Amino acid sequence: MSFLQSLLGGGSRELIGLDISSSSVKLLELARRGERYSVEAYAIEALPANVVNDKQITDPKVVGEAIARALNRSGTRTRHAAIAVAGASVITKTISMPASLKDNDMEEQIKAEADQYIPYSLDEVNLDFQVVGASAKDPTSVDVQLAACRKELIEHRVAALEIAGLIPRVVDIEAYALENACPLLYHQMPDQGVGKTIALVDLGAQMTSLLVLHDRQPIYTRDQAFGGRQLTEDIMRSYGMSYEEAGRAKRFGGLPDSYQSEVLDGFISDLALQIDRALQFFFSAAAQHRTIDAMILAGGCAHIAGIDAAVQERLRLPTSVARPFAQMGVAARAKPSQLAQDEASMLIAAGLALRAFDEDVA
Ligand SMILES: Nc1ncnc2c1ncn2[C@@H]1O[C@H](COP(=O)(O)OP(=O)(O)OP(=O)(O)O)[C@@H](O)[C@H]1O
Ligand SMILES: [Mg+2]
Repeated sequence: MSFLQSLLGGGSRELIGLDISSSSVKLLELARRGERYSVEAYAIEALPANVVNDKQITDPKVVGEAIARALNRSGTRTRHAAIAVAGASVITKTISMPASLKDNDMEEQIKAEADQYIPYSLDEVNLDFQVVGASAKDPTSVDVQLAACRKELIEHRVAALEIAGLIPRVVDIEAYALENACPLLYHQMPDQGVGKTIALVDLGAQMTSLLVLHDRQPIYTRDQAFGGRQLTEDIMRSYGMSYEEAGRAKRFGGLPDSYQSEVLDGFISDLALQIDRALQFFFSAAAQHRTIDAMILAGGCAHIAGIDAAVQERLRLPTSVARPFAQMGVAARAKPSQLAQDEASMLIAAGLALRAFDEDVA
C-alpha cells in the first residue's frame, strides 16, 4: 500500500530505499531471486545536527551531499530511489465515489471535490488516491483512500535527491515502509508471528515508534518524542565531546570505562520506561489485547550492547533485536560484518527497498 507512489510517475525494478532521518541517511538496495532476497548495496552516512529536524529537511544541500557520499560508498549504480515522508505530514482520508466512474473521470471528480477534505489549497499539496474496494454501505459506491502531502515537504526531499543525481520513483509514508519491512522479521517471532501479538519498537534518534502486530497485521502505532539524541547529549556533556564525536563513539566505541555506570545505565532506564509507557497506551486503547507475546527492538538504539537483555529484564517480555537481513545473502561490497552491526536501524530503508518488487511498480 503506497498511496503516494504515483505522485512522481512510474517506478523501476532497480530501486534503492533511502531513509532520510534525523541522524543519518540510510541507503539500501535489495535484489530478488525467486523467493530469496539479497542485500546488494548499503551505506549509512551520518548527518550533522539539525539538518533534519522533526522529520523535515531544513538544509537540502547538506542532505544531498550526504546522499551523494552514501551512494559513492555503497557502490550502487542504481539511480532510482524510494523515499518516505513522516506520517504526520500526510493527510489520509477515505471517501466514497460512484463505482461507475472510469479512472480518469474519478481523478477529475476527486480533484474537484478534494478541497472539502483537505485543509490546504490544492496548489500546495501533492494529491494521490487509491480505490480500496466496494463500499460496505452502498453497492453503487467504492471507498477511495486519499493521501495529500504538502508539496514543500516533498520538494525538499526531491531537491536533496537531485543534488545527489537520484530520481525519486516512489514516495511512501514512513509508517507504511516500517510495516512493509515486517515480513523480514517473521523469522524471529514466535510461531513466525501467526496468531501472536508482537511489539516492534523503533528506537530512533529523536523519535520512538511502537508498532503492534497481531497475527501479522498492524493493529496499533504510536510515536513518542524520545531517542538516542538524548544519549548523545549526555555523552557530549559528560565527556566534553562534539555532536559528531559523541555519535561516532556510540557507534564505534572509544568511551571511558565509566560510561556504562555514569551515562548508559540511566539512559537504558529511561528507554525502558518510555517503552513501558507506549505499551500501556496500547493496552488502554485496545482492551481486547492483554498481553504481548514478544518484543522486537529496532532503530539505532537497538544496537546498544545488551539492550535486549536489559529491556527484557525490566519489562518481563521476551525481547530481541531486529535482524531483517538474517535470512538474506549479502554481497561482499555491502560489507556483511558492518551491516550486521547496523541492521536494526535499516528497517525503513528495507521497507522502501522492497517497493522495487511491488507488482504495481512496473
Ligand atoms: N551501535 C550503536 N550503539 C548505540 N547507539 C547507536 C548505535 N548506532 C546508532 N546509534 C544511535 O541510534 C540513533 C540513530 O538511530 P536511527 O538511525 O534509528 O535514528 P533515525 O532514524 O536517524 O532517527 P529518527 O527516526 O528519530 O529520525 C542515534 O542516536 C545513534 O547515535
Ligand atoms: Mg528512523
